[in-house]
Amino acid sequence: MITALYVVHVLGAVIWVGGMVFAMAVLRPAAHAALEGPQRLALMQGVFARFFRVLYHVVPILILTGWAMLFGWYRGFGASIWHVHLMHAAGLVMAAIFGFVAFVPWRRMRAAMETGDRPAAAAALETIRKGVLVNMVIGLGTVAVATWGRFSG
Ligand code: HEM
Repeated sequence: MITALYVVHVLGAVIWVGGMVFAMAVLRPAAHAALEGPQRLALMQGVFARFFRVLYHVVPILILTGWAMLFGWYRGFGASIWHVHLMHAAGLVMAAIFGFVAFVPWRRMRAAMETGDRPAAAAALETIRKGVLVNMVIGLGTVAVATWGRFSG
C-alpha cells in the first residue's frame, strides 16, 4: 500500500512540476516567437484550461498521498525527516499559490476573453505566468530537497 501511495505521489509531482517547466520554458517562448498577441492569448487560454483541469485532480492527490505517507507511515510531525517537513511546507505553499492563480487571475482572464477585453486578458495572463513561474521554482527546489533528503540520512 505504501509503495502504491509513493508511486502515485511521485507521479503527481512529475506531472505538476514537469507541466510547469514545459509551459514556462518551452511552450511560452515558442508561442511568443510564432504567434501574434490575440492568437497567443487564445493558445494560452486553451493550454491553461487543460493544464488546470489536470491539476484540480493532481494537486489534491499529491497532498493526500503525502499526508497518508507522513501520518500513516512516518507517524506524523515528530519524525526526524527534515526533507519531508520541508516538502510538506513547500507543498502547502504551492497549493495556495495554485489556488490563488486558479480562482483570481484565471477567472479574470476567462471573463476578459469572453467580453473581448484583450488588455485585461493579457494582464491576467501575466499574473498567471508569475504564479506558475514561482511554483515551478519552488517545485523544482522541493523535488531536489525531497530526493536529496531521502538518501542523506
Ligand atoms: C502536503 C505536502 C506533501 C507531503 C506531506 C509529502 C510527503 C512525502 C513523503 C512522506 C514522502 C516519502 C519520503 C521518504 O520516504 O523519504 C514523499 C516523497 C516525495 N515527494 Fe512529497 N509530500 C508533499 C508534497 C510534495 C510536493 C509538492 C512535491 C513536488 C513538488 C513532492 C515530491 C516528492 C518526491 C519527488 C518524493 C520522492 C523522494 C523521497 O522519497 O523523498 N512532494 N513526500
